[in-house]
Amino acid sequence: MKAVRLLEYGGQLVFNDVPTPTIAPDEILVKIKSTAVNHLDLVEASGAARQILPINLPWIPGHEFSGVVEQVGSDVAAFAPGDAVFGTTSGMGAYAEYLAVKAAVIARKPTNLSFEEAASVPVASQTAWQGIFTHGHLEKGQTILIHGGAGAVGAYAVQLASHAGATVIATASGDDEAYLNFIGANRVIDYRKVQFEKVLREKVDVVFDLVGGDTQKRSFLVLKEGGHLVAATQPVSPEETARHRVSGAMMRLAPSGDVLFRVARLLEEGTIRPDVANVYALQDAAQAWKDIAGNLPGVHGMTPSGPGAASRRSHGKIVLRVVWREHEIRSRAYELYLARGAQPGRELEDWLQAERELTAEATGG
Ligand SMILES: NC(=O)c1ccc[n+]([C@@H]2O[C@H](COP(=O)([O-])OP(=O)(O)OC[C@H]3O[C@@H](n4cnc5c(N)ncnc54)[C@H](OP(=O)(O)O)[C@@H]3O)[C@@H](O)[C@H]2O)c1
Repeated sequence: MKAVRLLEYGGQLVFNDVPTPTIAPDEILVKIKSTAVNHLDLVEASGAARQILPINLPWIPGHEFSGVVEQVGSDVAAFAPGDAVFGTTSGMGAYAEYLAVKAAVIARKPTNLSFEEAASVPVASQTAWQGIFTHGHLEKGQTILIHGGAGAVGAYAVQLASHAGATVIATASGDDEAYLNFIGANRVIDYRKVQFEKVLREKVDVVFDLVGGDTQKRSFLVLKEGGHLVAATQPVSPEETARHRVSGAMMRLAPSGDVLFRVARLLEEGTIRPDVANVYALQDAAQAWKDIAGNLPGVHGMTPSGPGAASRRSHGKIVLRVVWREHEIRSRAYELYLARGAQPGRELEDWLQAERELTAEATGG
C-alpha cells in the first residue's frame, strides 16, 4: 500500500510503498478514505516532545480516519467487511491506504456525513466530550468557560455543552463571534481585545482550557470554589488548584468506541455538526502541514509567516483524502486485471473495465 512516512525527526514527509498491515484477532483492517491533521502530528514529528511522545521511525502519522472495513479479526463480532466506519487509531498511523485498528475504538460512520467530514470528527469531538463531561463533570444549568472556542476541539465543546443545557461562554477572536453564537455559545469574549477575568461578572463552574499559558493562570480567578479546570494543552498547577479550592487536571484523550457512538448519534440527528476547513490529497500532506504550522510557531521547522502558511484559517479540521492519480489508477487497474485473470480476446476491455471501477471508487467519496 501507499503511505506517508517520516523517516527522521524534523525531516520531510515521503509518500511511497510500505507493506499492508496484518491484523490481530481483536483488530479490523480498514481501507482508509480520509484522515485528518492534528497539531499533535507535527509536534510528534518535530521530536520536540520525544521524551513524552516518542515515535518509532520510520513513522506513519495520523490519529483519526474514516473508511470501509476490509477484513475483521477472528474475535470481532461488531463489524463486517463493507461497513463504513470512523475512529481514532490504536497503534499505526492513518496517513495510509490501509490501517489495522482495535475494534473497541471505532464506530459506524454517521450516514449523513461524507467520508471527509467523518474523518474530521473523532479526535476533536472525543476530546471535547471527555474534557467537559468526564473530567469537567459539567451538568445542566451550570456555566462553562471554553478557551479557544472557535478551534476544532472548542467548537465541539461549545455544541456539546450547549446541548447539555449549560450556559456557554467562549473566548475567541472577535471575528468568530457570529460563528460561535450560531453553534450555541451564549457569550463570546474577544481574547485579542479584553481580558476575560476583567469582564466576567459571575464565576463559572467549569473552565475548559484549550490555550494554556497565561490564559490558564488567569482562569483560576473566574472559577467557583469546587469548580473544575480541565486543560488540554499543559499540566495544571497543584499549588494553584489548592489555593483556589478547585480541582484541576490536564486531560489526555482516551479513545472510546462508546463515546464515538454517542457523538455519531448526535451528528446523525443534526444536533451537532462537523467542520472541515480544507481537503488535500493524502500525498500532499506536507502542504497541509505547512497550513496548520501557521498556528504552531517553530514546530517542524516552520515559521508562521513562511511560504504556504495560511494567514487566516477557516473553521474546522484539515482533511487528507486518499486519492489515486491518473497514472496510479492505470497501473492499479493493470494489476487488478491481471489478478482477475485475463480473458483471451477481451484484454483491452477487461483492463478498461478495471480502470473504470477504480476511477469510480476513487472519485466516489
Ligand atoms: N490533551 C488532549 O488529549 C488533546 C486532544 C486534542 C487537542 N489537544 C490540544 O488542544 C489544543 C486545541 O486544539 P484544536 O485542534 O482545537 O486547535 P485549533 O483548531 O488550532 O484551535 C485553536 C483555537 O484557539 C484560539 N486561540 C488562540 N489563542 C487564544 C487565546 N489566547 N484565547 C482564546 N482563544 C485562543 C484560536 O483562535 P485564532 O486562530 O483566532 O487565534 C483557535 O480558534 C491544541 O493545543 C491541541 O494540541 C489536546
